[in-house]
Amino acid sequence: MTGRILVVGSLNADLVVQTERFPRAGETVAGGDLSIGAGGKGANQAVAAGRLGGDVALVGAVGADANGELLRSAVAGSGVDTSLVSVREGVATGTALITVAADGENTIVVSAGANGTLSPADLPDDALAGAAVLGLCLEVPEATVRDAAERGRAAGVTVLLNPSPFGPAASRLAPLADVLLVNEGEAEALLGLGAGAAADDRDAVRAGFRALGVQRAVVTRGGDGCLVLDGDADPEHVPAVRISPVDTTGAGDAFMGALLLRLAEGDDLLTAARFAAGVGAFAASRPGAQASYPTPDALRTFLA
Ligand code: RIB
Repeated sequence: MTGRILVVGSLNADLVVQTERFPRAGETVAGGDLSIGAGGKGANQAVAAGRLGGDVALVGAVGADANGELLRSAVAGSGVDTSLVSVREGVATGTALITVAADGENTIVVSAGANGTLSPADLPDDALAGAAVLGLCLEVPEATVRDAAERGRAAGVTVLLNPSPFGPAASRLAPLADVLLVNEGEAEALLGLGAGAAADDRDAVRAGFRALGVQRAVVTRGGDGCLVLDGDADPEHVPAVRISPVDTTGAGDAFMGALLLRLAEGDDLLTAARFAAGVGAFAASRPGAQASYPTPDALRTFLA
């Protein structure tokens, strides 16, 4: 039985150029053709869960422009309820300028646009009341994320937070999450650990999260899999699915969408993270953000 998944977050038009290598500061390099794709961390999470068969609704905002229309229809096309995605006059749809290098790594600069206008009033109580899990990221205002997390918890909804883009708000909001999803670098910054500690010292990671008020967390480590902390149980390592990365854009959001889906279905965190590792690997082995997310059939074939 699948519970409803609610995502409160961003929608961005991703303007993507491939490059052999990233330019240094002040340098110009020639890139490939420009492509415009559907992205934004919140929309990506919702689409990943929707394409895998979840019952998903997205709360967000776009501008009254062509990109906003494109993003709303892309999200709806993956089975996500977009009735709570508002169209704002006089503000541009969120935009991400993305470069992807030959090794699949990326750089992203985001212009928030309409995402920056999302407010607590955009999330009705009845939307929260019907949800089993709530997905949050930091591409919308901190006050909106805080309010959604607080109201979600009060309503008995399981709150997942991916504190990305990472900044000082991460430590302020982390204690409000039932489950925190961070990458290795974010975990080390959040917990004040040295580089490499998230891989080498599980006890320090667990103690650090506890001190922060976080009982359940997943730390993703790219090609080294992920670490799952679930209350008092020993932290568990989940191995990565081996791939040659093509484009890692949105792979973390695909992981988050898959976690949301499986937690809404009642899985424990470790089982959900094992599933999410496969979905994240699928996404990183194809170009684009939402364009790289699997259907259940495509995922089955990939993992076989
Ligand atoms: O996490 C990937 C996403 O980050 C992209 O889709 C881009 O829109 C930025 O929000």
